[in-house]
Amino acid sequence: MNSGPGGKVPVVKNISRCHANVNTLRPSEYWNYEELAIAWGNQEEYEVTKKVGRGKYSEVFEAFQNNTGEKCIVKVLKPVKKKKIRREISILQNLCGGINIIKLYDIVRDPATKIHSLVFEHVNSQDFKTLYPTLTDFDVRFYIFELLKALDFAHANGIMHRDVKPHNVMIDPVKRQLRLIDWGLAEYYHPGMEYNVRVASRYFKGPELLVDLKDYDYSLDMWSLGCMFAGMIFRKEPFFHGQDNQDQLVKIAKVLGTEELNAYLDKYAIVLETSFMNSIGKHPRKAWAKFLNNDNRHLALPDAIDFLDRLLQYDQAARLTTTEAMAHPYFRVPKKWNGRQGFLLNSTRSVNFLLQKCGGYVKLLCSQLRNACPPVFLVESVSPRALKGNSDWHLQHDHIMRSSQDLSHPIDMQLLKPITANSGVLCFPLAQRKREFAL
Ligand SMILES: Nc1ncnc2c1ncn2[C@@H]1O[C@H](COP(=O)(O)OP(=O)(O)O)[C@@H](O)[C@H]1O
Ligand SMILES: [Mg+2]
Repeated sequence: MNSGPGGKVPVVKNISRCHANVNTLRPSEYWNYEELAIAWGNQEEYEVTKKVGRGKYSEVFEAFQNNTGEKCIVKVLKPVKKKKIRREISILQNLCGGINIIKLYDIVRDPATKIHSLVFEHVNSQDFKTLYPTLTDFDVRFYIFELLKALDFAHANGIMHRDVKPHNVMIDPVKRQLRLIDWGLAEYYHPGMEYNVRVASRYFKGPELLVDLKDYDYSLDMWSLGCMFAGMIFRKEPFFHGQDNQDQLVKIAKVLGTEELNAYLDKYAIVLETSFMNSIGKHPRKAWAKFLNNDNRHLALPDAIDFLDRLLQYDQAARLTTTEAMAHPYFRVPKKWNGRQGFLLNSTRSVNFLLQKCGGYVKLLCSQLRNACPPVFLVESVSPRALKGNSDWHLQHDHIMRSSQDLSHPIDMQLLKPITANSGVLCFPLAQRKREFAL
């Protein structure tokens, strides 16, 4: 066994509690990106229209594919090490098609300048700074669950994202579609391997990165998710607002407590420099309820706070895994919904719905489920007015969504959108599909 910095204390090795051996069990071609052979596409096929983003490592443009006219995104990579480019491409290719993972369409290279670009599916995303303040309790549960699906897929495939933050989560609120983008810092997880701690953006860096614990794992993403989630439910963005990396740990310690920090450091035999320890000082653990105010009370409900508390743990091994997170009561359908007319669809698939206005009625249309087995359709919410005299629609008041832009209706109407069983959904037999309900 290795010894700690003091030379005496045995070091507790950190090994992921889930999917630890995914890459060990796969052929090296899967994770050994240095050997990746890249088939370069033709840059001329894409016509760039406007700049949509700028990151540390890229400039991002909206573009069209000349032949099909399809909108896409071209990420022009700044000159970085070939190894980093290969890693991003390898990971994007391995995860392509995974739920809520941004799809990589093409990889192109300018023959003259040798500048590399990645071509992606386009997301008509709304900036999180304007979107998050508009999200309802249901919306937050919905989008966090969608994000968990993406992380679950990545982790189950041996990949940690290492840069989860609002800027890298594209949300199209009209389609209710979420995509996890920017796999530029992502890495394959190998148990026991030591990684660079200079990953993730400051406000989303896990304690492990700030105390230089190098054998971290997928659970780093769960911390970052926790920071993002805290920002959403407390309406405080960023939640931990450090001025620099050391101050970031100070900000965390002021919430999670210094006694708890010391227990974490002791467990992994981590010794921080005295000056660093002094700058942290001593702080008691702060109750989550202290962050409540009139602006966030409707979002930071007890289940939400319990869920947050299980993500924001110093000890990475104590944080929820994606599977555990998805099973948390925060995402559970209210008990009173169970055993009613419908049934829950035990699936992580998202399904698109359309409400069609016809006279004083709205019709539920769902083409994608035609081949579903057993035949079902999902109903996320109907208006309280529609519920009156309709005893078989037992739905929760507080899970009702507002109507969306594409179906404006003068009266209180809800739009049924891509939804999933675990995000609070009732499923009814297909026989009831043509049911019309008055508003
Ligand atoms: N598929 C996409 N759809 C819409 N916008 C995107 C897409 N990909 C990237 N962007 C925009 O470009 C920005 C930078 O892209 P990103 O992949 O995060 O690059 P970087 O590694 O430089 O941060 C994003 O924050 C986002 O605003
Ligand atoms: Mg980015």
